[in-house]
Amino acid sequence: MTRPLLTSALAGMGTTIFAEMSALAVETGSINLGQGFPDTDGPAEIATAAADAILAGRGNQYPPGPGVPELRQAISAHQKRFYGLEVDPDTEVLVTAGATEAIAAALLALLEPGDEVIALEPYYDSYAACIAMAGARRVPITLRAPDFRPDLDELRDAITAKTRLILLNSPHNPTGMVATREELTQIASLAIERDLLVVTDEVYEHIVFAGEHVPIATLPGMRDRTVSISSAGKTFSFTGWKVGWVTGSPELVTAVRTAKQFLTFVSSGPFQYAIAAALAFPDSFYSGLGASLHRKRDVLAAGLTDAGFTVFAPQGTYFITTDISGLTTSGGLEFCRQLPHRAGVVAVPNSVFYDDPQAGRSQVRFAFCKRDEVLQAASARLRALRSA
Ligand SMILES: Cc1ncc(COP(=O)(O)O)c(C=O)c1O
Repeated sequence: MTRPLLTSALAGMGTTIFAEMSALAVETGSINLGQGFPDTDGPAEIATAAADAILAGRGNQYPPGPGVPELRQAISAHQKRFYGLEVDPDTEVLVTAGATEAIAAALLALLEPGDEVIALEPYYDSYAACIAMAGARRVPITLRAPDFRPDLDELRDAITAKTRLILLNSPHNPTGMVATREELTQIASLAIERDLLVVTDEVYEHIVFAGEHVPIATLPGMRDRTVSISSAGKTFSFTGWKVGWVTGSPELVTAVRTAKQFLTFVSSGPFQYAIAAALAFPDSFYSGLGASLHRKRDVLAAGLTDAGFTVFAPQGTYFITTDISGLTTSGGLEFCRQLPHRAGVVAVPNSVFYDDPQAGRSQVRFAFCKRDEVLQAASARLRALRSA
């Protein structure tokens, strides 16, 4: 074969490292703080609602293409309740197989080969893969330690005649940066001035410890040029159910739905009913989620600091990015390969989220969506690094 396969462009990205690190966790009996999924399921009443839906025969056959009406209405009510955004459940909401499919369908729908996409780097690994699958080119705006703010001058300079869209992620994985209203306002005015679309991944919208989550779609002039993406996986701790969604103007949502139709067509039928019920939970559920993860963040941050890591306290998400320069001269990848053997803990190197692996060479990410005792045990194990 003379032509390189697409997989060669995608190999080495985050997913590969997650598989390697998860296997290492099993092999060494390590605490796995690598991949970001909670070690406790979400509320039992949501699980019961899903079981009830299955037994009642709701959603066991192909649900409607845009999602079941109950969930679309619940998503619309959620956008109104938290952000004052009016979205029509019939034309402006699309249910997807997790945020992952929403990202893929949005990028495949909106990009033409040769288009450029400006994205905040380090990136969640599916962005680079989906941009590559759409035949487009990613143009990174690198978020730099210690506070990982987006450099808006750099962003302005990165826009060319080929730029089609800006791909945002706030709260940001893996750095925990939460974009401010002011930053988003500046990004919005660039998008309007240069006639760009914005695709915004807001899956951690309810996991914010500092500042506020501002959906860019709420800013003047942005509603009709923004595709907003979120997911029940993070908010309700059912990552395996893969219920995500897109909101936006009828034109943009129809475009995304057209691509989605040939990816999964539909998914997660009975789970959609359960998430519809969950979205109506009182505000106390949402504030409780943030408060609980805030406490967990502080437990792990203290453990990591004690162990000699430099901790960049996240403003949101359930990830902590650290710098390992105080502990080793090796890069994050090598460090993460040794860590399970040295300390019985698994983390992931941030270098896999950068185009240029040197950029995040000394950074390592830990997930803290785990039980308190697991975080405490991990902290105790990591402390051993100090004496090693
Ligand atoms: C930034 C970001 N976007 C999207 C996803 C995927 O969400 P889902 O599980 O709903 O596909 C994740 C999961 O880790 C994520 O961190």
